[in-house]
Amino acid sequence: MSAACHDGAMRIGVLTGGGDCPGLNPAIRAVVRKCEVRFGDEVIGFRDGWRGVIEDSTMPLDVERCRGILPRGGTILGTSRTNPYRVDNGPERAIATLERHAIDALIAIGGEDTLGVANKLAEQGVPVVGIPKTIDNDLSETDVTIGFDTAVQIAAEAIDRLHTTAESHHRVIVCEVMGRHAGWIATYAGIAGGATVILVPEEPFAIESVCDYLRHRHSSGSYASIVVTAEGAKPAEGTLAIVAPELDQFGHERLGGIGTVVAEEVERRTGYESRVTILGHIQRGGTPSAFDRVLATRFGTAAVEAAHDGDWRQMVALHGAHVERVPIADAVAKLKTLDPELFRSVAEVFFG
Ligand code: F6P
Repeated sequence: MSAACHDGAMRIGVLTGGGDCPGLNPAIRAVVRKCEVRFGDEVIGFRDGWRGVIEDSTMPLDVERCRGILPRGGTILGTSRTNPYRVDNGPERAIATLERHAIDALIAIGGEDTLGVANKLAEQGVPVVGIPKTIDNDLSETDVTIGFDTAVQIAAEAIDRLHTTAESHHRVIVCEVMGRHAGWIATYAGIAGGATVILVPEEPFAIESVCDYLRHRHSSGSYASIVVTAEGAKPAEGTLAIVAPELDQFGHERLGGIGTVVAEEVERRTGYESRVTILGHIQRGGTPSAFDRVLATRFGTAAVEAAHDGDWRQMVALHGAHVERVPIADAVAKLKTLDPELFRSVAEVFFG
C-alpha cells in the first residue's frame, strides 16, 4: 500500500457492510464530494461490503455518479453480512485486493460487525477509518449512529396509525420493532408513540406484569393499548417458551416473532382481543430523515479528513454537538445497550 501523505491526493476505498439503513447514500456522497472537491482524491467503491473486497468487486465513484442519491435509502454500493474471517483466506484476499488497487485509505461504513472486521484488518496493517451506522444504535462511543433517527421516525408513525385502529376495535396491538440486543428503537418509538408497555432485550419481561399493565389501562376506561416490543426482547427465565432462532455469519440470532408470542399470550390471559404488527425491514427502507442526512454528511466529510491526517483505526463519532474521532477498537469492544435511566425513569412512568 502506498504511504498516505498529508496534503497529496489519495486513492480512497469505501464500503458499506452489514444491514443497510437510511443514510448510507448520503455518507457515500459526502465521502466522494469531500475527496474529489477538497483533495483531488480518487474514490473506489467496494460492492457488497467485505465481499467486494475479498472478491475484488469494485465500482468507480465520483461526484457525477452520486447525483440524486442524497434522499435515497439503501446503498448504491450494496451490502452483505460477509465476514472475511469466516471465508477461506478471506483476510489475505481482502488485503491483496486493497494492494492491487493501491488503496491509501479504506473508509468502512458499518456497525459492530463491519467495524470489528475493519479493526482486525487494521491490526494487519490496513489503513482504515470507520463511520458508524446501524438502525439499532448499539455501537459504543458515539451518541448516535446513522439510520437510527429514521427508523424511530418510521416506527413512531406506525404506532400512531396502530392507535386509531386499536381504539376503533378496542384491541391490544403488539408492534414488534427491530433491535437485536438493544432496545433503543423500541424505547424511543414507544415513548414517542405513547405505548402502554415497552419490552426491550435489556430487561427480561414477565408476561403477567405486561398483562397487569394492560388490565390497568383498560379498567380506567380506555379500551385499547399498544405494546411495543423489540425483536430481541426476552421473557424472564421460565415464564414463557420461545423457539431458539438461527445464527448468521457473525453468530447473531436471526430474530422476529416475539410480538406474535406476546399477542397470543396477552389474549389468552386477559381475554382482550389482540393483534400483532411486525414492522421488520420497513424500518430500514426508504428515504432518510433530515437528521440522518446531516449526520451522514458530517460523518462522511470527517472520515475523509481523518484519512488525510493518516489517523488510522479511528471512527468518527457524534459527541453532543461535535463530530470527534474515537478508536474503532473502543467502539466495538462492547455493545451500547439501552440507558437504564431512560427506561426506568422515563419510559416506565407511562406504562399501564
Ligand atoms: O442491522 C441491524 C438489524 O436491522 C437488526 O435490527 C435486525 O435484527 C437485523 O439487522 C436483521 O438482519 P437481516 O436484514 O440480515 O435479516
